[in-house]
Amino acid sequence: MAHSDNSVVILAIESSCDDTSAAVIKDGSLLSNFIANQTVHQKYGGVVPELASRQHHLQIVPVIDAAMKDAGVSLPELSAVAFTQGPGLLGSLLVGCSFAKGLALSLDKPLIAVNHMEAHVLAHFVEEPRPEFPFLCLTVSGGHTQIVRVDDVDQLTVLGTTRDDAAGEAFDKIGKYLELDYPAGPIIDKMAAQGKPIFTFNKPRIEGLGFSFSGLKTSVLYFLRDRLKEDKDFIKNNLHDICASVQATIVEILMDKLIKASKQEHINHIGIAGGVSANRALRRSLVEHAELLNWQTYVPAIQYCTDNAGMIAMAAHYKYLKQIFVDQVVTPEPRLKMKSAV
Ligand code: KG4
Ligand code: ZN
Repeated sequence: MAHSDNSVVILAIESSCDDTSAAVIKDGSLLSNFIANQTVHQKYGGVVPELASRQHHLQIVPVIDAAMKDAGVSLPELSAVAFTQGPGLLGSLLVGCSFAKGLALSLDKPLIAVNHMEAHVLAHFVEEPRPEFPFLCLTVSGGHTQIVRVDDVDQLTVLGTTRDDAAGEAFDKIGKYLELDYPAGPIIDKMAAQGKPIFTFNKPRIEGLGFSFSGLKTSVLYFLRDRLKEDKDFIKNNLHDICASVQATIVEILMDKLIKASKQEHINHIGIAGGVSANRALRRSLVEHAELLNWQTYVPAIQYCTDNAGMIAMAAHYKYLKQIFVDQVVTPEPRLKMKSAV
């Protein structure tokens, strides 16, 4: 494919956790989005940072090659190189950051640093229908749980976040108690479909729009311990109902705050993003509330919800339009923050 001189073509690299991904975007339209998952962590029941960075190192060249090939773009045609600066695992971020710096230097092209959490929200702009401003986005994944107010593509404000575990982490850790494989979120979702939420767990009482999931984790642990004393096969015999109950509680915790945020901000354009937004109970609850509360809802396609470079490319495109570049002294920021109202 030939690119005219004034088109904006960006290669974006995502390596913040355990997925190595590269995407190419031209004038705001994604041409490719290639993702290599890391299966090495499965047997450890969670992401092992050292192994993640080694895997990124092994995968980054073939992943970028694949994304460039899919897009039909050659390196000299790039207008800029973008990467995830943070938040994430330092060793993982270093691989993407160093590679992007080297490539930008060798091509003599600008370098764009992207905040991973802002990119999760901007995943809503990859495809139609694009949300109207202002809208609220509940970003829920293995590492993050936050409600963001979005007034423009470069005006994102965190209204609430978790004080301990993320929603996906709660699914995964509780899944471990239930002896499910990692990541347990999708398995709990599947099991829950055949069960009923007959067990109740306490929901946290957190002021404002903040979240907490560590109490739920402990409450499930104690519940299982007590029931197992009476029946050593309790988990096996009740797995579907336990999964349905845990899932229902997590979804309720998320939706309670989303409803609160919508009322507080007087905004009824609502989006969800992040890996947990694949959860069927959460999607169902969003649709039900949309009808009840007259919400207009937005859910990006699943490949743009889980970690991917397509969303990084989208964020980079907007930064390019404003000529927001970084220079070669840039470093990864494992705890990179977003603008916050709290
Ligand atoms: O966005 P993501 O792919 O990576 C992170 O940035 O963390 O999210 C992964 C998380 C995991 O915790 C996984 O268990 C959870 O998303 N997840 C789900 C579902 N699919 C993925 N949780 C509940 N239900 C699902 N269907
Ligand atoms: Zn993420």
